[in-house]
Amino acid sequence: MGVFVELIASLGAIELSILTAIIVIVFFAVTQPWRSGGASERSAEEKLIRPPEDLEVDDISKSADNDHDEESVARIPYHHDKLSDSDMLARSQRFYEQMNARRSVRVFSKQTVSIDIIKNIVRTAGTSPSGAHLQPWTFAIVSNAEVKSAIRKVVEEEEEINYAKRMGEKWVKDVIRFSPQDSINWIKPYLEEAPYLIVVLKHAYQIKPNGERQETYYNEISTSIAVGLLLAAIQMAGLVTVTTTPLNAGLAIRQILDRPANEKVSLLLPVGHPASDATIPDLKRKPLEEIMQLF
Ligand SMILES: Cc1cc2nc3c(=O)[nH]c(=O)nc-3n(C[C@H](O)[C@H](O)[C@H](O)COP(=O)(O)O)c2cc1C
Repeated sequence: MGVFVELIASLGAIELSILTAIIVIVFFAVTQPWRSGGASERSAEEKLIRPPEDLEVDDISKSADNDHDEESVARIPYHHDKLSDSDMLARSQRFYEQMNARRSVRVFSKQTVSIDIIKNIVRTAGTSPSGAHLQPWTFAIVSNAEVKSAIRKVVEEEEEINYAKRMGEKWVKDVIRFSPQDSINWIKPYLEEAPYLIVVLKHAYQIKPNGERQETYYNEISTSIAVGLLLAAIQMAGLVTVTTTPLNAGLAIRQILDRPANEKVSLLLPVGHPASDATIPDLKRKPLEEIMQLF
C-alpha cells in the first residue's frame, strides 16, 4: 500500500490525469457488464417464462393487457351421461370405424346437399375448444356458382405458379401422387363441381364490440381442432371433402368473400357427394403401435 502511495506522489500532473482516466475507464468497463448482466438476467428469466422459439406462447403474454377488465364467467354444474364400460368400448369402436372410413375425395357429383346439413356440420365445428374461448374462426359457406368460379380462378392461377416456379421439384412430386390420374395438377374442377366450398378463416385478432382490439390465443391450433370436428361431422353426415391449403391464394379468396383483414384464409374444403366413378389413392394408415406410446 505504501509503495502505491509513493508511486502516486511521484507522478506528475499529466501522468496523474492519465491514471485517473484509466481508472474511470476500468470502472465503467467493470460496471457495464453488471448493467448488461441485468439485461441478460432479465432475458434469461424471460427465456424461462417464454421460450423464444415458441411464438404461440408469446401470444399469451399479450393477454395481461387484454383481459384485466373482463368480468369472471359464472359457473354452472356439469351434466355427465355416465356410460357402462361396455357401452364406452362399443361406442369408441364404432366411432373409430366411422372415422377410419373417411377418405379425401377430389372428384364430386353435382348432386345438391341441403344447407341444413351444412349448418349442422358447421355447428359441430363451432363446439370446438379454443384458446380463452375466443372461437377464432369463421366458416364461409359458398354455394353461389359465380363466387365458386372466382375462387377456382384465383386458386388455379396461384397453383400453376406454385407448380411451375415457386415450389421445388420435391413438393411437386409429393403432391401429385394424390391427384386423380387424368387431372392436370393445378386444375381443380372440384372447386366448381362440389355443391359447397367451406372456406375456413382463422382470426389473427378480433375487434371487441367497443372497437378495441382483442388478441386471439392459439388461433391456428384452435381453428385446426375445429376443422378436425368439421371433418368428422362431414363424414358422419355421409358427405365427402378434401382438406386443401389454397397456397398463396388466401388474400384473393378473402377479398372475393369480402372478409375483414383480421381473418386469414387457412383451409378450403369442397363438400358434397362423391362422383360415382371417384377413385382414391390406396393409402395405408400407421398402425396403433406406431402412433401410440404407452408410459
Ligand atoms: C393440412 C392439410 C393440407 C392438405 N392439402 C391438400 C391439398 O392442398 N390438396 C389436396 O389434394 N389434398 C390435400 N390434403 C389432403 C391429404 O393429401 C390427405 O389427407 C392425405 O393424403 C391422406 O389421405 P386421406 O385424407 O384420404 O386419409 C391436405 C391435408 C391436410 C391435413
